[in-house]
Amino acid sequence: MVCSLIILLTLYFTLCLALLNTLSAAFVEEITDAIAINCVQKTSHLHFYFHDIVSGKSPSAVRVAGSPNSSIFDFGNMMMVDDALTEGPKLTSKLVGRAQGFYAMASQNEASLLMVMNFVFMEGKYNGSSITILGRNPVFVREMPIVGGSGLFRHARGYALAHTISVDPKNGDAIVEYHVYIWHFQGFVVA
Ligand SMILES: *[C@@H]1O[C@H](CO)[C@@H](O)[C@H](O)[C@H]1NC(C)=O
Ligand SMILES: *[C@@H]1O[C@H](CO)[C@@H](O)[C@H](O)[C@H]1NC(C)=O
Repeated sequence: MVCSLIILLTLYFTLCLALLNTLSAAFVEEITDAIAINCVQKTSHLHFYFHDIVSGKSPSAVRVAGSPNSSIFDFGNMMMVDDALTEGPKLTSKLVGRAQGFYAMASQNEASLLMVMNFVFMEGKYNGSSITILGRNPVFVREMPIVGGSGLFRHARGYALAHTISVDPKNGDAIVEYHVYIWHFQGFVVA
């Protein structure tokens, strides 16, 4: 893994520099043998529901760019969101996090969004940890890349699969089911 390789090389060069002046070459070799440290990665699967509320007095998604007269799905529209992530499909179900960032209509010919968003979690051991989603969200495919994270999700990589549960035809409010698969840092072990 890149992570363990970088740590190994960093330690190797640090030790080599430190030892160069004081120790014999044979001793340096012995030390470098003893520092095979591996970075342990873990896979987490999270499941939750995303509530994009565009209607009413306190919407959680507001248009910040694009023609005010166009429909939400027209090219160029950008929505800034602070959407609730819940355990169950109902908005009243337990809040497990928030999706904060924006999505923008990035295609002139099809329903395809650019997603730039942090999902910050608020529940249990994940409280305060976040993942960053950055990439294309083709509305009829719905796979998005996870490019980073914080807290428990340091060094995160992975993908998010989304599935629209409902869209209110009158006001555009949507509920989207998410399954996210995250490979992230867990710790170091000395091999
Ligand atoms: C939006 O619609 C209003 C009312 O129909 C109109 O007065 C205005 O010029 C339109 N704005 C744009 C940017 O098309
Ligand atoms: C999450 O962490 C915040 C800040 O540390 C704390 O106020 C809150 O009660 C925690 N929530 C849960 C569900 O543990």
